Amino acid sequence: MTGAIKIAVLRERAAGESRVSATPETVKKFIALGASVAVESGAGAGASIGDDDYRAVGAQVVATDAAKDADIVLGVQGPEADLLAGVKPGAWIVAGLDPFGQRDRVDAYAAAGLEALAMEFMPRITRAQSMDILSSQSNLAGYKAVITAANIYGRAFPMMMTAAGTVSAAKAFVMGVGVAGLQAIATARRMGAQVSATDVRSATKEQIQSLGAKPIFVESVAGIEGEGAGGYATEMSEEYQKAQAELVSAHIAKQDIVITTALIPGRAAPRLVSDAQIATMKPGSVIFDLAVSQGGNVEGSVADQVVEKHGVKIVGYSNTAAHLAADASALFSRNLYNFLSAFWDKEQGKPVLDEEIGNAIRLTQGGKVVNERLLG
Ligand code: NAI
Repeated sequence: MTGAIKIAVLRERAAGESRVSATPETVKKFIALGASVAVESGAGAGASIGDDDYRAVGAQVVATDAAKDADIVLGVQGPEADLLAGVKPGAWIVAGLDPFGQRDRVDAYAAAGLEALAMEFMPRITRAQSMDILSSQSNLAGYKAVITAANIYGRAFPMMMTAAGTVSAAKAFVMGVGVAGLQAIATARRMGAQVSATDVRSATKEQIQSLGAKPIFVESVAGIEGEGAGGYATEMSEEYQKAQAELVSAHIAKQDIVITTALIPGRAAPRLVSDAQIATMKPGSVIFDLAVSQGGNVEGSVADQVVEKHGVKIVGYSNTAAHLAADASALFSRNLYNFLSAFWDKEQGKPVLDEEIGNAIRLTQGGKVVNERLLG
């Protein structure tokens, strides 16, 4: 190894993207590993981190060409290929690359001879938990969805007994109980709502109960017992979907707040709430659709807008974690650091991946798209 490897931290270009892929904390740790770090000026601004904060831990802050001569480029989202002019041949791009949604960009990385590593393809194995950007960001998103819904809702969450009379507790229903859904349940409970929740994976029933919420499950048709590959859901049978729609119809009419989080990897989000069901809800109720940017769980939801249908407000952020930019950046940055440092080869002075994780997350190598999830 000749000289320290160079890590570049780019300013995010996507609209509404306020996060940053390295904080002063992780920059300091990369430097302690022997790397040099170049941060593009303004990269941390959206997360309340100034250029001087990066300089103070030893980073070089540059106005242009941050990626020049870089061995590793970090991003929250994948950078446009033209921002990567001048990187070393075979440089790594480590970010949330949205491989299915941004396929053209992945192809451009391949054509440029770069090695693109998609952090959202991190396998769900115990040793990779601390590297899992989907979990760290979903957790914050679940919290923010409830806080946002509460803010828009014209009533209180907790029951309050006052001299002027009683305010009744809000009823909140969480649909999809993965990482975001569990945090949504916990947050709504802490705020005093009466919470119920549903999922297709029967393993979530106990988790819902352990958070003090009521499970609402289709019992007549089999759901997914335990968990499928990687803990993810798959598309349900038509019979199941019909039974689920009936069950939800009866329940949703009584809810004040609905938080939907259901996702199926590599596919459009399943439609869980129809316009007809919204029409049965009380005016003033609020629905937050956390899946809005993947096609939406709720009929009529529009990204980054509050839409009113039948007196019900439907909200969804296209990038919910970015609304908690400082915490989201801190966790995202640690995910990237935990990943790269776990594979750091002291002799070579750079990370060297193993097969299990390397093959799961590597999208491009040697001028080609190599990931089997993209080739199939
Ligand atoms: P996700 O974001 O892919 O989906 C959210 C939830 O929606 C899931 O619980 C899914 O079952 C549910 N869902 C899908 N279709 C639905 C439908 N039609 N109706 C109702 N619900 C539906 O899931 P997430 O948050 O990524 O978590 C999935 C599982 O992976 C969880 O059990 C989680 O604990 C596990 N996990 C494991 C990790 C590890 O071992 N390293 C790391 C992170 C999560």
